[in-house]
Amino acid sequence: MRWPKGLAGLCFGGDWNPEQWPEPVWRQDVALMRQAGVNLVSVGVFAWSWLEPEPGRYTFGWLDRALDLLHEAGIRANLATPTASPPPWFSLAHPDALPVTASGVRLSHGSRDTYCAAAPAYRAAARRIAAALAHRYAGHPALAMWHVHNEYGTRCHCDHVAAAFRHWLRGRYRNLAGLNAAWGTAFWSQHYSGWEQVLPPRATQYRPNPHQALDFRRFWSDQLLVAFREQARLLREATPDVPVTTNFAFGDWVPIDHRRWAGELDLVAVDSYPAGSGIEAEQQAAFLADLARHWAGGRPWLLLEQAPGTLADRGAQVATAPGRMARLTLTHLARGSRGGMFFQWRASAAGAEQFHAGLVPHAGPDSRIFAEARELGRLLPRLAEVDPGGVAAEVAIGWDAPSWWALQQPHLPSDRLDFLAGVRRAHRALWEVQVTADFADLAADLSGYRLVLVPGHYLATDRVAGAVRRYVTGGGHLLVWYLSGVADESGRIRLGGYPGAFRELLGVLVTEFQPLPPEATVPLRDGGHGRLWSEQVRLAGAEPVRWYAGGGLAGQPAVTRHRYRGGGNGRGNGGGLAWYVSTELDRDTYRAVVGAALAAAGVATGGLPPGVDLVRRRAGGQSWTFALNHTGDPVRVPARGVDLVSGARIDEAVRLAPGAVAVVRGAG
Ligand code: GLA
Repeated sequence: MRWPKGLAGLCFGGDWNPEQWPEPVWRQDVALMRQAGVNLVSVGVFAWSWLEPEPGRYTFGWLDRALDLLHEAGIRANLATPTASPPPWFSLAHPDALPVTASGVRLSHGSRDTYCAAAPAYRAAARRIAAALAHRYAGHPALAMWHVHNEYGTRCHCDHVAAAFRHWLRGRYRNLAGLNAAWGTAFWSQHYSGWEQVLPPRATQYRPNPHQALDFRRFWSDQLLVAFREQARLLREATPDVPVTTNFAFGDWVPIDHRRWAGELDLVAVDSYPAGSGIEAEQQAAFLADLARHWAGGRPWLLLEQAPGTLADRGAQVATAPGRMARLTLTHLARGSRGGMFFQWRASAAGAEQFHAGLVPHAGPDSRIFAEARELGRLLPRLAEVDPGGVAAEVAIGWDAPSWWALQQPHLPSDRLDFLAGVRRAHRALWEVQVTADFADLAADLSGYRLVLVPGHYLATDRVAGAVRRYVTGGGHLLVWYLSGVADESGRIRLGGYPGAFRELLGVLVTEFQPLPPEATVPLRDGGHGRLWSEQVRLAGAEPVRWYAGGGLAGQPAVTRHRYRGGGNGRGNGGGLAWYVSTELDRDTYRAVVGAALAAAGVATGGLPPGVDLVRRRAGGQSWTFALNHTGDPVRVPARGVDLVSGARIDEAVRLAPGAVAVVRGAG
């Protein structure tokens, strides 16, 4: 992790787009930034046509003046390469660099992000503008960080992509025999006898080959990474002392494996746009923030964008209640972000996002949102002392982007399987009882955790199977949901009974999947029910803890627990406990099962109502407790020390009004 050059403490600011405004407005902007305590702004993210109005003719004068103004005011620049939106002249000159959908439609210029990341002309133009910026601004005193591109997330299926896909596949499989085996091409006469026959998964007659589709997702993430790497190399050569980042987007549409990318960023930076304006916004923010910490390898990271004062809720931009903007920011800070940045500084007067919120709204600075921005700017420096690491979690949730992608295929036994929903549900169950969660790569050393939750981990490599076995043999507790470990990394079924890779560990043998149609439920013996999915679970060492109570599975185990002793770790340890859940449990039963697993693993819960967010950070004999009350009721949170938000001494407990926050510094 490397920090923006010349910046101490936490980052505060947003995207600043001087190209959209006359210069007198820039001066007002910079004065207002100083008033608000802004110390970092992202500049030039979509300014390519403004920087290079014709091929090879650069107009840097305006950016020179904008950066000089920032520097005079002591504000640092997170300077972007503008490659997410090539200018119209580029698309006209290089029609082969426009993206092609899976159905073969070539898209036209008219929005943003309309390029093919594998097209040689695009890549060359992107390198040129990045190199020109690096050359021009290497010595500029405002330059603190490079912001490469914007939210890598486009897709393409053109012939350039087909060529790059074949190249990537040759690297992965060496020869066609390997590819044919991994893709199961004996099925439906798909056997390949020449590389030129291999294509990206384009629109086809019926179900596409799921293994091909999965590899394409892997390839495309890697391909975008190659494009990032080319720019990053140029920037690093010019300015070895300036960190390079890109802003990660998150959601079903984002085709990258963030964890694989993160090692190539000097600082992991994420954009956080929760969907929904109720408490789910805070849950999603907490989820993404914990995920960002995982991508960052446990090191600090940066919240680079969030919307100031609004939340998107099913087509409407809902205004946040006073104070909520700060609370959402603190949700990220509690989990390792070293700042709160926004999209954007000033709301645009024109363009496709002219109604997107800004810290300076259309009405100007005499507004609620700007007043809240100023308050946040005053609060953040008081929180800078919180140790940049130090988020200690006893529980982890398995994260695996390829499993997410694999469960998006259309050929599965149910079309309602959803990796992300499963992982979110597990995270929410912990969040509601104030248990901080890490996300983890299951192939890593898990021995630091008391409990590991594994929802929807459809694919499992032998390495994952081995690491999970070592963890449980060493005394770890594991809670696995249905459809985990079922397939190998290509998506081929692990034969001999489900859940393949984890079968022995869980002490069960699933002989049959019994998915349920929409609306159907299967009753459980103690009053709850399952939906979406059920299974015929045969015990092979495990004991049942919940039973199906109706339908063909009546009387058979639905949830099991296995005291695993296999293998041994040479430390005389008795082995851990491995739970298995074979259906999608109703809310109360789900909470009860997670609660029982937490208790068995010795993980203490917060004992506060759901909606109170509690995160403890510890380092060097000190601790900081973030307590955020997202509920409508006052709460009392046990703590001792000094509240950095109010400055008050806390003797026993901090009392939080609805919506209030505290960060209590205490001893160890
Ligand atoms: C993303 C982008 C921004 C902007 C915002 C708001 O995070 O990076 O350019 O489009 O969303 O929609």
